[in-house]
Amino acid sequence: MTTSTKKIIIFIGPPGSGKGTQAKKIAEKYHYYHLSTGDILRNLDKNSQSLTSEDIKVLDFMKKGELVPDADIIDLVKNAFTRFYNNRGVVLDGAIRNIEQAETMQKFFEAQNLLKEIVVIDIYLSDEQALDRLSKRQVCPNCGYIVSGEESKKNLTVCPRCSHQLKARADDSPEIIKKRITQQGNVALEPIREFYKKLGILRGVDGNQAVSDVARAIEENICS
Ligand code: AP5
Repeated sequence: MTTSTKKIIIFIGPPGSGKGTQAKKIAEKYHYYHLSTGDILRNLDKNSQSLTSEDIKVLDFMKKGELVPDADIIDLVKNAFTRFYNNRGVVLDGAIRNIEQAETMQKFFEAQNLLKEIVVIDIYLSDEQALDRLSKRQVCPNCGYIVSGEESKKNLTVCPRCSHQLKARADDSPEIIKKRITQQGNVALEPIREFYKKLGILRGVDGNQAVSDVARAIEENICS
């Protein structure tokens, strides 16, 4: 029997579970578009001179560690998907954070006859482990590189890819991390997991193992 790789891969999981780390790997390997809502918002924030008052309001939610309103996020996800899908595949990283977003995007994919292409990868990790990872995370503000657990032991100060100064993400302050985990952690994820489980498209992957083992488990779950 021949197998094929799904073309719409939706990553869910608490903040810090490794969605970004793994979504980048899959996108690179399969030449899929990496649709990270967090990255899109952070890139918008970089162009601070051209921000509209609406953009500033939207970014304010992110900076406070709260969810950006559905109307803004859903438009952003639909537009990016339409622009980049092109039958080549998209990895959605963090694009679904509540049941309204899950239902709206499901209808959107249905209207395009794409339901059979969807798989949802749930990277599960306890809220405590997620909090620990986020408090140590270093990223490159220039190219988006995320320093891995292994590399973090080397006390790097510059990005191994582009040599920019590494930093903690602005929303990785202790107070904001706690808020993000309370509002976007495992409790908030339960109804989303239930929704995709009923549709038969949810695949759970243990996020508490080495990055390469998480990647292997994901690979085993994105084919049909
Ligand atoms: P976003 O940027 O998506 O943040 P997040 O969901 O909080 O997720 P993170 O990026 O913090 O973590 P991650 O799961 O990607 O883990 P990572 O790979 O970095 O969103 C930011 C904000 O934008 C939200 O708070 C919200 O305001 C807004 N937003 C975005 N989407 C939205 C939506 N749909 N609706 C409304 N608002 C939205 O890994 C974390 C750390 O762990 C790293 O240091 C990494 O090296 C390490 N690590 C990863 N895997 C492993 C492993 N296996 N072992 C050891 N360490 C590991």
